[in-house]
Amino acid sequence: MSVILGIETSCDETAVAVVADQTHVKSNIIYTQTVHAEYGGVVPELASREHLSRLQPLFTDALAQAGIDKKDIDGIAVTRGPGLIGCLLVGVAYAKGLSASLEVPFIGVNHLEGHAISNRLVAPDFGFPHVTLIVSGGHTSLVKVESWDTFITLGQTRDDAAGEALDKIGKLVGLPYPAGAAIDKLAQDGNPTAIKFPRARLEEGSLDFSFSGVKTSAAIYLEKNPEAAKPESLPDFFASFQAAIIDVLVEKLMLAAKTHHACGVALSGGVACNSMLRHKTEHAAKDAGLAYTSPPPEYCTDNAAMIAARGAIELDAGRSSPLDMVAVPTWAVGKPI
Ligand code: KG4
Ligand code: ZN
Repeated sequence: MSVILGIETSCDETAVAVVADQTHVKSNIIYTQTVHAEYGGVVPELASREHLSRLQPLFTDALAQAGIDKKDIDGIAVTRGPGLIGCLLVGVAYAKGLSASLEVPFIGVNHLEGHAISNRLVAPDFGFPHVTLIVSGGHTSLVKVESWDTFITLGQTRDDAAGEALDKIGKLVGLPYPAGAAIDKLAQDGNPTAIKFPRARLEEGSLDFSFSGVKTSAAIYLEKNPEAAKPESLPDFFASFQAAIIDVLVEKLMLAAKTHHACGVALSGGVACNSMLRHKTEHAAKDAGLAYTSPPPEYCTDNAAMIAARGAIELDAGRSSPLDMVAVPTWAVGKPI
């Protein structure tokens, strides 16, 4: 067992954390980059530069908050992919430099396996196998978790991620980026059956997703009904739009659990903060007699505690990455690079 430093720079959160004994989070510092808001989406070059200037002060803060010295670090876990390549390179280069100077091993971690393991930080005894829905601005995947060290991709989105669809429609009505949390809030006062949006289920039994159709359908609806974008109409519009996405997410999560004989279902990723998604998943799991868990918001959105938690298992097992390890922009869970 050991003290692991986690580093996360795959997109627009710069994060550093210290995790001891695989599950004990001693610090979890997250800087959410604000520079992208005026562009309505993440600008990769700006994100890389922000990571570069923020990492060192965050490292100092993470050690101070954990009450440790850099000599106490036994190993370093860094996000290797998937993500924006320029952003990943900043974190990976930083981790390699630290590893060389502190003379401790480092390991490149799959970001999605990090999301999947975020549930271990609050539900360490959650049973296996379970299925996790990883749902964020960049990803929508169903992952079978056979142990905290064995992950298998069961399905993923063929086009937009669920959070991406929410953010893009939010942008059309003038909500700041990212729009997910504001949509969640507005939708709480709306009627989810007010407007009928399509549910894309794909082929019979498919565990893949597609959200570009419902996104286009919502954009066309706004074009034809401009009054739907007025403040008094937004709750119904967003309750209906997010329900079209969430219904499919929950249906496929439950189908995956049934098909793969899982004992429980879990949520992870930024969109897992959504109150309707949490409520519907919890109820569906209860109806099916399955266990349910979801992390608190600070472990849903991108963070380095989950990266340290994933890396800790590998480092404790004696695995590490070589100094010439490269960052990878695409990397499906459980698949070779
Ligand atoms: O995991 P994350 O921080 O970064 C990515 O890997 O993308 O997720 C960010 C995504 C954004 O699309 C944001 O709109 C969405 O999570 N999000 C939400 C909520 N809070 C954040 N979506 C729906 N409801 C929320 N409460
Ligand atoms: Zn993520």
